[in-house]
Amino acid sequence: MAKLSLTSTLRMPSGYEIPVLGYGVYQTPANVAAEVVGHALEVGYRHVDSAVAYRNEAPSAEGIKNSGIPREQIFFTTKIPPKDMNYENAKKHVDNSLEATGFDYVDLYLLHSPYGGKTNRIGAWKALVEGVEAGKIRSIGVSNYGVHHLDELEEYIKSTGEKEGKGKGGILSVNQVELHPWLARKDIVDWCNKRGVILEAYSPIVRATKAEDPLLLPLAKKHNKTTSQILLRWSLQMVSSFFQSTKAQTHTCVGLCTTAEIGNEVTHRGERTTLRLRAFH
Ligand SMILES: NC(=O)c1ccc[n+]([C@@H]2O[C@H](COP(=O)([O-])OP(=O)(O)OC[C@H]3O[C@@H](n4cnc5c(N)ncnc54)[C@H](OP(=O)(O)O)[C@@H]3O)[C@@H](O)[C@H]2O)c1
Repeated sequence: MAKLSLTSTLRMPSGYEIPVLGYGVYQTPANVAAEVVGHALEVGYRHVDSAVAYRNEAPSAEGIKNSGIPREQIFFTTKIPPKDMNYENAKKHVDNSLEATGFDYVDLYLLHSPYGGKTNRIGAWKALVEGVEAGKIRSIGVSNYGVHHLDELEEYIKSTGEKEGKGKGGILSVNQVELHPWLARKDIVDWCNKRGVILEAYSPIVRATKAEDPLLLPLAKKHNKTTSQILLRWSLQMVSSFFQSTKAQTHTCVGLCTTAEIGNEVTHRGERTTLRLRAFH
C-alpha cells in the first residue's frame, strides 16, 4: 500500500477520484456544522460526508464555501433518506440538495439504506442515474447494502444496459457500510472488491466504544499510538475509504497521525474470521 495522506485518492468506477479519508458529520448539530467542517478542512480533510437525514447539508456546504478552498478540490457526499426511497422523492431530493448547498453538483450521492422494497429501491436509483445524466451528480452509490441488495442492483444495471444501451442503468461507484474488526463483512468486502466498487467504512472507531479494548491496548502501546489510531489504520488497510466523525474538534488530526506504519498484527477476532493487518510500508 502506498503511503497515505488526507489527500490520497482512489479512482471510482465513474472515473472520478475520491479522497480515501472522509470527515463524517452524522450527529453534528446544524448550528456548529459550518465551523466543524471548516476546521476539518483546515486540518487537511478534503472529503465531507453528509446526508439529508443529518439535517446539516446547508451548514456543511457553508463551511466548505467559507474555507476559501476551490470547490473542485473538495469532495461532498450526501444521501437520499431511507424514508424517501422511491423515484419521485429521490428526484426531489437531488434538486433540494443543490438548492440547500448552493453547489452546482454533488460529488457523490448515495441511497442511504435499502428500504422500501425492490421497486422503490430501483426507482430511487433511477433518480440518481438521471441526476448524473443532468450533470447534477458526478458519482452515485449505495449505503448499508448487503450482498442480495447489491445483486439486485447489479441485475438492474446489467439488464437496463442491455435494453437501453451501455451505462443507461448507471454506474455503481460506492457502497458505504459499517465496517470495523467487530463487523468485518467479508461477503460485502469481497463483492465490492471483485467489481472495483469502492467500499467506504463507517463507524471505523466503533463509536469510541473500544478505546480500552484488551486486544487493541497492547498494539497501541507497541506502536505508541492510540487505540483509535490502530482502528483507523485497520480501516485504511482493509478497505478503500472510511469516515470518522467528531462533534468536537479535538480528534480531527487523528487521520494524519495514522499515516505512520503500525505493522501487521492481528487486530481482533470479533467476527470469528481472524483478520490480519497487512504489513504497511
Ligand atoms: N451511511 C450510514 O448509514 C452511516 C451510519 C453511521 C455513520 N455514517 C458515517 O460515518 C461517520 C462516522 O461514523 P460514527 O460517527 O457512527 O462512528 P465513529 O467515527 O466510529 O465514532 C464517532 C465517535 O468517536 C469519537 N471520536 C472520533 N475520533 C476519536 C479519536 N481520535 N479518539 C477518541 N474518540 C474519537 C467521537 O467523539 P467526539 O464526538 O467527542 O468527537 C464520536 O463520539 C458519520 O459521521 C457518517 O458520516 C454513515
